[in-house]
Amino acid sequence: MKIIIQNLPPSSPLLREERKVFAVNRSMKRLLPFILIILTVFILVNFLLFTGQINEYRPETSDPSLVYKEACMECHGGNGEGNGLLYPDLSQELLSEEAVYNIVRNGKLFMPSFPQIPESTLNKLALYVSNKKFKNE
Ligand code: HEC
Repeated sequence: MKIIIQNLPPSSPLLREERKVFAVNRSMKRLLPFILIILTVFILVNFLLFTGQINEYRPETSDPSLVYKEACMECHGGNGEGNGLLYPDLSQELLSEEAVYNIVRNGKLFMPSFPQIPESTLNKLALYVSNKKFKNE
């Protein structure tokens, strides 16, 4: 191909085409770092905005099924089935009471922490969520 192109007259349309392709390829390569930077910034902003959030929800009741509906259902679903890739299914995994307690108190990445849920209510909620019965409801 090179030899053929070199032998073409400078005004040849084929040669012009070839230059165009070359120019497009080059400008794409120049764009690549910017695309990477924009992508990185986007991911960073998402992390900064949506991780480590604090949910100020304070339950009026100590009934764990109600607390679950009020505070957890929007992300984990009515039956703990989760939602998409981001919100884990609570009904499949066998989570210990302690694990549930800790994650609700302290949060984790995109899961907010709930510092306002009283100790005794959170104990009941942890039991409710880790309880097998919840998984069959
Ligand atoms: C804003 C959405 C949101 C709300 C509200 C929320 N969670 Fe989560 N939860 C998440 C996300 C996201 C994760 C995954 C965290 C991770 O592992 O990075 C998670 C993880 C968990 C886990 C660990 C699951 C596992 O398999 O490791 C438990 C247990 C849990 N949440 C319980 C609760 C309970 C109980 C409530 C209500 C008090 C609640 N969550 C409210 C988003 C939420």
